[in-house]
Amino acid sequence: MADLQLHRQEFGDPANAGNVPSEEETLALLNEWVPNERLRLHMLQVGAVMKAWALEKEALPEKEAYKWWVAGVLHDADWEKFPDRHCAVIIEELEKRQIDPAIIKTIASHGPRYFGVDPHSKMELMIYVFDELSGFIHAAALIRPDRYNGLETKSILKKLKTPSFAAQVDRTDIEDALTRAGLDLETVIPFVIKHQREV
Ligand SMILES: [Fe+2]
Ligand SMILES: [Fe+2]
Repeated sequence: MADLQLHRQEFGDPANAGNVPSEEETLALLNEWVPNERLRLHMLQVGAVMKAWALEKEALPEKEAYKWWVAGVLHDADWEKFPDRHCAVIIEELEKRQIDPAIIKTIASHGPRYFGVDPHSKMELMIYVFDELSGFIHAAALIRPDRYNGLETKSILKKLKTPSFAAQVDRTDIEDALTRAGLDLETVIPFVIKHQREV
């Protein structure tokens, strides 16, 4: 597997704080860079859950929560076209566009084991928490005839203990993310189910 370490801890320019891409710009970037519909859905789902968490759990104003959405929607933007340089390419693009450094640092923090960047802020910690878990829960919903209808936390907990189910999802990353954020699966799983089902 490619070495994805970013070898830096500073992202963006503090002078660009508050420079947030519009919804149109964000979705245009998503659609241009990510032909794969399933990957696009994953990114939109992470964005929706991020924003919902910012609003409901962190009680942040809409304007701040919007940044969480942007980070979620763009976090894997370069994964399909530049798998060997994920997520360095999208970071460089957002730096070129002079985007708020908090958004760029959040994208850089979505996989500490791969990118070598530790999440610190709440926005950074939560993208790490949601990334794998969101994909895992969606995979669990897809194999059910009723999809998200009636999907229960206990069924996700059981599947997490079944190594053969969605085997590519590293359970230790999910545990590590929750420990760092001081959260547990019983809190986060129902939140993800609730907020990504309509995406
Ligand atoms: Fe990723
Ligand atoms: Fe992802």
